[in-house]
Amino acid sequence: MRAISRLVFETVGLRYTYPDGTLALEDLSVGVPAGGRVALLGPNGAGKTTLCLLLIGILRPTAGRVRFQGEDLRYNRQGLAGLRRRVGLVFQDPEVQIFAPTVWEEVAFGPANQGLNREAVAERVEAALAATDLLELRDKATHFLSYGQKKRLCLAGVLAAAPEVLLLDEPTAGLDPEQARRVMSILDELSRAGRTLVLATHDVDLAYAWAETVFVLSGGSLAGAGKPGEVFCNGALLRAASLRPPLVFTLYEALRGRGFVPSDAPVPRSPEGLLGLLPGSSSKFEVK
Ligand SMILES: Nc1ncnc2c1ncn2[C@@H]1O[C@H](COP(=O)(O)OP(=O)(O)OP(=O)(O)O)[C@@H](O)[C@H]1O
Ligand SMILES: [Mg+2]
Repeated sequence: MRAISRLVFETVGLRYTYPDGTLALEDLSVGVPAGGRVALLGPNGAGKTTLCLLLIGILRPTAGRVRFQGEDLRYNRQGLAGLRRRVGLVFQDPEVQIFAPTVWEEVAFGPANQGLNREAVAERVEAALAATDLLELRDKATHFLSYGQKKRLCLAGVLAAAPEVLLLDEPTAGLDPEQARRVMSILDELSRAGRTLVLATHDVDLAYAWAETVFVLSGGSLAGAGKPGEVFCNGALLRAASLRPPLVFTLYEALRGRGFVPSDAPVPRSPEGLLGLLPGSSSKFEVK
């Protein structure tokens, strides 16, 4: 009988050493809950991308294990194909991901590969291009796209394949604020629809506002884990991982210290939430 697990992904004592001898991950044991919004947070070189590549089976552990839905990953062709039907990765570097000559063909690859008919593929592609604001560029050569457009194209490709689990490696890096906001609202929608999301980022503000669970990586090890409210009030943990506290959190603490906001109010997770705490503010307090 299959093991039933509420964890979609689980790593057990995971270790990865690159061929040049770099130890990128060491003894990492983390669990990704089904339907959760998980942030992998850490500074440059912490091992976030390496972990994403291990979760989707592009890299194979040097030691330890990756489990998906309660079973060890199988690294044969069939095992990996099955995994990648259910899990999609938006690569940090779009150049690694994009291979098709045009925007449309790039996004159509996933659904076409799933054996959908032409109309169903076209429907998926249109929806993914509309969501990522790329419809007007549908016939454009992918190598002429700007960096931000390439990043959004990578997300569109994964959206069109409609996996249950999305691994997103710095999905908003290089995007302008409006496009970054748009991407985060796509992720909110996916989350509401019950998809499991794992987002790798060095952006503490983003992780604080968005995640339900945060894994802090530092030097290839797990430096800390928990809900954003727990992780981000742990100054020692943040310092050890070379991270700063989120701006909203710092401002809240400063305003509370000066008596401008009530000391018993829940800690806000967004600028709107913080503004709502100020005296005379009419905006409704909101915790995401
Ligand atoms: N192909 C590779 N060969 C050798 N070392 C590598 C390779 N890729 C990554 N590394 C090393 O592994 C470590 C972890 O890198 P990784 O890319 O996973 O970090 P990251 O947390 O994603 O960083 P960033 O925030 O810069 O994206 C780093 O020390 C890096 O230099
Ligand atoms: Mg990375």
